[in-house]
Amino acid sequence: MSETPMTLPRLGDSAPDFEADSTHGRLALKDFRGSWLVLFSHPADFTPVCTTEFIALAHAADRLGALNCQLLGLSIDSVYSHIAWLRTIEAQFGTAIPFPVLADHDRAVALRYGMLMPGESSTEASRCLFVIDPDGIVRAMIYYPMIVGRNIEEVVRLVTALTTTAAAKASAPANWQPGEALLEPAPRTVEGAAARNAGADWFLQYRNAD
Ligand code: BEZ
Repeated sequence: MSETPMTLPRLGDSAPDFEADSTHGRLALKDFRGSWLVLFSHPADFTPVCTTEFIALAHAADRLGALNCQLLGLSIDSVYSHIAWLRTIEAQFGTAIPFPVLADHDRAVALRYGMLMPGESSTEASRCLFVIDPDGIVRAMIYYPMIVGRNIEEVVRLVTALTTTAAAKASAPANWQPGEALLEPAPRTVEGAAARNAGADWFLQYRNAD
């Protein structure tokens, strides 16, 4: 059987389907319908940067859960390797990993999500992270090299910004933090621009947080 060709998801597209074994049993993309999903790859089990990311993600899991957002890890390892590594993390560092980790030893999911960067490795996934909305649409992507751990506070901020802007139909400015003002959508007609309050630039207007 020929191998799945490598594809790169795009923002606004349906997330590629998958079904694979995980540390929580067989899981498919459709199992996450109705909640936000952070699907992320890490290069390998039993590696130092990945271990620090897993501990930080475990500590963020409740805050993400409060946003109706689930976590799902992935690496090109077996489910037995995942189980052994998660048990080691809990035993050595006192952190239980509450989220499932996909076993992608045939690289099927990694190839569908463009998680393999041949310039880095074709056997280990780079640090790719996809935020998928409750309807299965890719809303954000973060790609990091193997050598640098991701900022998990930024992942929480990103999911908070996505859920907040979706509910408010507004956008989030640079360095936005939860509770801060959002931005009104820019007017798209001369009438809309003229209707904007004097004193504010027609194209940039903040909406105070509730
Ligand atoms: C790490 O997690 O420490 C790591 C994994 C693969 C390449 C480089 C670093």
